[in-house]
Amino acid sequence: MVSTKGLEKYYLLGTKKIHVLRDINISIPKAQFIVVGGQSGSGKTTLLNIISGIDRATAGDVTVAGESLTSRDEEFLSDFRCNHIGFVFQSYNLVSTLTVAENVAFPMEWTRKPSQEIEARVTELIKTVGLEHRLKHFPSQLSGGEQQRVAFARALANDPELILADEPTGNLDAKNAAKILEVLQLLKSKGKTVIVSTHDLEIRRLADQVIILKDGKLASTDE
Ligand SMILES: Nc1ncnc2c1ncn2[C@@H]1O[C@H](COP(=O)(O)OP(=O)(O)O)[C@@H](O)[C@H]1O
Ligand SMILES: [Mg+2]
Repeated sequence: MVSTKGLEKYYLLGTKKIHVLRDINISIPKAQFIVVGGQSGSGKTTLLNIISGIDRATAGDVTVAGESLTSRDEEFLSDFRCNHIGFVFQSYNLVSTLTVAENVAFPMEWTRKPSQEIEARVTELIKTVGLEHRLKHFPSQLSGGEQQRVAFARALANDPELILADEPTGNLDAKNAAKILEVLQLLKSKGKTVIVSTHDLEIRRLADQVIILKDGKLASTDE
């Protein structure tokens, strides 16, 4: 489902080269649940962003669902993301001027789904994350945990085969984290391919494979 070959990422700050990912080679079969671990600054977010096509590698190749993302233009990448990948950011990234229902509907409107189908799917997804009573609220009227749950519902809108989540429970209280764990369990049981960067041991228990990053390289253990 996802593979990377010789993936490299560095940033240039003036003349200084900041090497963030070094020779990352991973292979993730369909329907696997992958946890990405590693200390803060080890490159987890960068790796997830590159796999999802939000960011580009400096060198090497990324293939998702049989498509190489390496030399694609932005238009292809945003279309591909919208149809095949659900991404949950650490900072939720909901559209502040749209209601909960509108945020969840957004990816389906982008792919021009019929409005009846959109309405039914929004209801189903909001139920999955347990926010039926918040449909008409705006993101600013929700707690962080509730916003994260909306972000999950939005990520699942187009029923993507690959779901990426970047420290989804990092800032959440126990109740909201438990709800997110439930959603992740559901995705695993449905046979979705899931990649989660997290330090959460409850989530790690679901993993078929744990990938540890250390200073931008694959490592065998956390320390
Ligand atoms: N736009 C950027 N410019 C320069 N350095 C960056 C940029 N984005 C991230 N980095 C650096 O890349 C490293 C990895 O960051 P990140 O992928 O966010 O790690 P993690 O998610 O594991 O905390 C960090 O040292 C960070 O400072
Ligand atoms: Mg990060």
